Amino acid sequence: MAQYESFTFSTLDELRQKIESLGLDISFNEDLSVLAAPAAVGERTAPNRFSTLPMEGRDALPDGSPGELTFRRYRRYGAGGWGLIQFEACAVWQGGRSSDRQMWLQPSTEKAIASLLDATRAAAREPFGPSHSPLCLLQLQDAGRYRHATGTTPGLTVRYPLLDRRAKVPEHVEPLSDADIEAVQDRMVEAAVRAEKIGFDGIDIKSCHRYLASDLLSAHLRPGKFGGDFDGRTRFLRELTERIRGAVPNPSFLVTSRMNLFDGFPYPYGWGCDRSDPPVPDMSEPLRLVGILEGLGLNLLTTSTGTPYYNPWLVRPFDRLIPGNIEAPEHPLEGVARLFALTGTVQRAYPDLPTAGSGYTWLRQFGVFAAAANVARKAVTFAGFGRTGFAYPELPRDVLEKGAVDAKKVCVSCSLCSEVMGQGGSTGCYAKDREVYGPMLKEHRASRKEH
Ligand SMILES: Cc1cc2nc3c(=O)[nH]c(=O)nc-3n(C[C@H](O)[C@H](O)[C@H](O)COP(=O)(O)O)c2cc1C
Repeated sequence: MAQYESFTFSTLDELRQKIESLGLDISFNEDLSVLAAPAAVGERTAPNRFSTLPMEGRDALPDGSPGELTFRRYRRYGAGGWGLIQFEACAVWQGGRSSDRQMWLQPSTEKAIASLLDATRAAAREPFGPSHSPLCLLQLQDAGRYRHATGTTPGLTVRYPLLDRRAKVPEHVEPLSDADIEAVQDRMVEAAVRAEKIGFDGIDIKSCHRYLASDLLSAHLRPGKFGGDFDGRTRFLRELTERIRGAVPNPSFLVTSRMNLFDGFPYPYGWGCDRSDPPVPDMSEPLRLVGILEGLGLNLLTTSTGTPYYNPWLVRPFDRLIPGNIEAPEHPLEGVARLFALTGTVQRAYPDLPTAGSGYTWLRQFGVFAAAANVARKAVTFAGFGRTGFAYPELPRDVLEKGAVDAKKVCVSCSLCSEVMGQGGSTGCYAKDREVYGPMLKEHRASRKEH
């Protein structure tokens, strides 16, 4: 592994030289036209290859309805020209919420979430005309170990001392029972039916970053039907995909999942990890599962790695470490190359299953060139951008209309968005969206000092 370094490259050539010196496979294509091509997802079509990645803003109201800043974020995504808008992690019951400010789809918030969707689509039609309609997916989540709303208890699949310590899970908390997990499945099915009713193009079953569904994939030590062997550990996701397909009356409704391809933890605690060489990915189980899910009717796979609570360098290569976090043991470009390579492995194994990958944000203004290269070499279908969506929501529109990215607007991977969220605040881009988030950062810091 090469030593950690922050982004200092002012030309594509300098960046290419660094990549070459590290012996990594990251390509760039300065012809961005492939990103303007529509892509089929199931029976629906996304107008271009730009995807937002789900990004929780922690700015919903206590009942789970979207708040003012939630509306602002999605209007900006709509107007920004994204072809696929992946709405942030949304809870399916109070007990599974990651915070009291997380969106929650339930009968009493259905209307408000439907108006968020309408506002997003209306904002998209304004600059691009009535025929421009981004695909909109709602990510469904049970936060599992990371349930943090008032009155919630961490939902463990197995005890994992390393993660439990970091998440401050009390000693007395026992893993969930099979019946508890089945109840979560029931709530996810209900939420998917509701999401279809209010007009989403599809749902995403969140199975990444070690939230509940992702945690189950590595529950080797869990007895019972949701753990142990491959069949047990993948049961939650397989059954849920099948049940949602069966429960939603509309056959063109999209059922998708965001799945970790590599957790980065040693056996028996990691998914997609080589049993004898823990930091090394082993794609045999993830590939097997993706094949099964495709057979069950999965329409899109969004990929990721790691967990923001332990190895965030795997999730989002960054320039600035959040104080108190573990130092990244690798160069951010190694993280970028891994994200591209693993997604490419899945895409090549299942060429008919669209994928959305990540890793583009750290490359700043050059990220779109990597996106164009990966789409052109069929290593991904959609280039997914997370923090970029906060910092520079109009990036796709600039590429599609002007053929260029404004280097002044790109995310600088300063980690403030994650830091404030981790401390319980609402989040957005504190570095570039200063008009709104500048005063909020000051207030947040002042209130932390007081406590
Ligand atoms: C503030 C914040 C909120 C996030 N919320 C979610 C989420 O709701 N669901 C999800 O799957 N990933 C979430 N992520 C991870 C992002 O979707 C994405 O994988 C990560 O930021 C890396 O992509 P990027 O390098 O383009 O930012 C979040 C990340 C951040 C920084």
